[in-house]
Amino acid sequence: MMTYVRVCSLADLAPGSVVSREIDGTPVAVVRCEDGTVHAVRDVCSHQEYPLSDGEVVGCTIECTWHGSEFDVRTGEALNLPATEPVPVYPVQVRDGDIYVSLSPTNGVVAS
Ligand code: FES
Repeated sequence: MMTYVRVCSLADLAPGSVVSREIDGTPVAVVRCEDGTVHAVRDVCSHQEYPLSDGEVVGCTIECTWHGSEFDVRTGEALNLPATEPVPVYPVQVRDGDIYVSLSPTNGVVAS
């Protein structure tokens, strides 16, 4: 059974914003896309390990501010160079107005 950890309330994460949390030692970027959906990825760029949560959310992507790679937070896919590898995507639940994240990646990508 997957364990979900409460991150914050949905009301505290406006559409188009991101919050960073450490869950059991794993840095997680929790992203609220501009369409209002919530997604979570490992908060470490797959290029040179910069925190993705420093970046800007556009649509349902987040841009790494170091070298400009964008990641689709729904799939973890790197959309442009220099990053070529996806980042782990974590399952999210929204319950009673709160956001919960589990650390079991849904896209088969495990942090190295
Ligand atoms: S560290 Fe993210 S693009 Fe280089």
